[in-house]
Amino acid sequence: MSKASAPGKAILFGEHFVVYGVKAILCAINKRVTVTAEKIPQNKILIKSNIGELDAPLKKPISEINSPLKPFYYLANKMIEKHNQKTGIKIFVESEIPLGVGLGSSSACCVAGAASISRLFEETSKEQILELAIEAERTIFENTSGADCTVCTFGGLMEYDKKRGFSQIESDSNFNLVIANSNIEHSTDVVVSNVGQFKEKNEEKFLNLCQKESELVKQVSIMLKNNDLRGLGKCMHDNQKFLEIIGISNEKLREMIKMAEDTSFGAKITGAGGGGCIIALTDESNLEKTILKLREGNYDCFSVKIDFKGLDTF
Ligand code: MEV
Repeated sequence: MSKASAPGKAILFGEHFVVYGVKAILCAINKRVTVTAEKIPQNKILIKSNIGELDAPLKKPISEINSPLKPFYYLANKMIEKHNQKTGIKIFVESEIPLGVGLGSSSACCVAGAASISRLFEETSKEQILELAIEAERTIFENTSGADCTVCTFGGLMEYDKKRGFSQIESDSNFNLVIANSNIEHSTDVVVSNVGQFKEKNEEKFLNLCQKESELVKQVSIMLKNNDLRGLGKCMHDNQKFLEIIGISNEKLREMIKMAEDTSFGAKITGAGGGGCIIALTDESNLEKTILKLREGNYDCFSVKIDFKGLDTF
């Protein structure tokens, strides 16, 4: 038996633009997915999770697996074939991360899944696990920038760009993020392709926004090193304006952000948008006030801190 857990994530700056090569800033959060994998004598792959079950024979083409649990099937099948073993695999998934709302539940599943399944057969490094996790994520979201799986694997606060990969940000910033859920589910794949269409129709405008986002991220890196929460909050406000322009916001998200901005240092959408969550930046001085404010508005909310551990294997 092999067990692994991986944290969810919040994108602080640069979602969507990161798909087109701009640097993003993101952190792992202290909410986790745990995956347990076990070899079984039957020639099948059996997956149990709180979003449903999958019971499928080995070697089915991945295009014939119609389930959100597809990445697990892909990983299990791949490992059995690679090691040419006569075995099936049973997988059990437990998650503390709300699903489909931009907090990295699917990338944490891919990372913890890649670790627990591959380690049934061989010792794997974090780098190898990340590579497998991104491959698995591509079965449900082809255009991924790889940012989410990277931060779920290595944890902490980081800069990420598609070409150069990640670098950890050394910062004393020990902020709290208040996360409020709009309870509007989104499909990252769909929202990312809508942004792609916006880009096709508005090439110049989009290029200009990418440049502005890059400049913003440069400022943010300095502010994080200086623990300048006020400055960071202002940058979140500016980043949100760019996200409004590319069309991933809506009335409800705008209302939540406005409410959170009253008490926090700043707020914005996190992740793909179109629904999902907003994050508000706080410290001990305004954390409770911000949670109360959002709860008064009847929004589901909770606070998280940075997870520095990343992938953990047992
Ligand atoms: C989704 O969490 C983040 C996006 O930037 C997509 C990606 O980076 O793959 C919207």
